[in-house]
Amino acid sequence: MTVLELIPQYLTYIARAYEQEPGKCQPQTFETAHALSCMRVCMILADKRRLDTTIAGTIGLIHDIGRIATGSNQEHAEKGVEPARRFLAAWGYTKQAESTIVAAVANHSRKHYRDDAFSELIKDADVFDSAYYGMIKQERAYADRLQQVRRELGLAAL
Ligand SMILES: [Fe+2]
Repeated sequence: MTVLELIPQYLTYIARAYEQEPGKCQPQTFETAHALSCMRVCMILADKRRLDTTIAGTIGLIHDIGRIATGSNQEHAEKGVEPARRFLAAWGYTKQAESTIVAAVANHSRKHYRDDAFSELIKDADVFDSAYYGMIKQERAYADRLQQVRRELGLAAL
């Protein structure tokens, strides 16, 4: 399986969620663009860090599923656990891969802390990608992550 197969399912998931509840905290365009670009950034960083790129891409794609499901940014990482499990159920991930993905979804807002390699991957990708939309929090942990990822990718410091 490649993440390519997941993309239409996840875009449909987003579209249905917005049909049911249009007044979510972020526009559908942002959620769609951010999901796809985090998928790609996660895969590139996973490649550099010698991590599984399919697991990484899956995490990047669905990491904000809790915000899409609830429409709110409040505790959206933790609230993504159940929707992520449900979304992944049909795709034949191993139990171990599923728990890695779900843990990274749950942990991705913990930008001030260190967690497992895949959780760190999505935190870094999230900050790196959000910065292009001018949507990065003005906090030290975010700025430090952004600079570290940019260094890792050979990009100039901001
Ligand atoms: Fe998020």
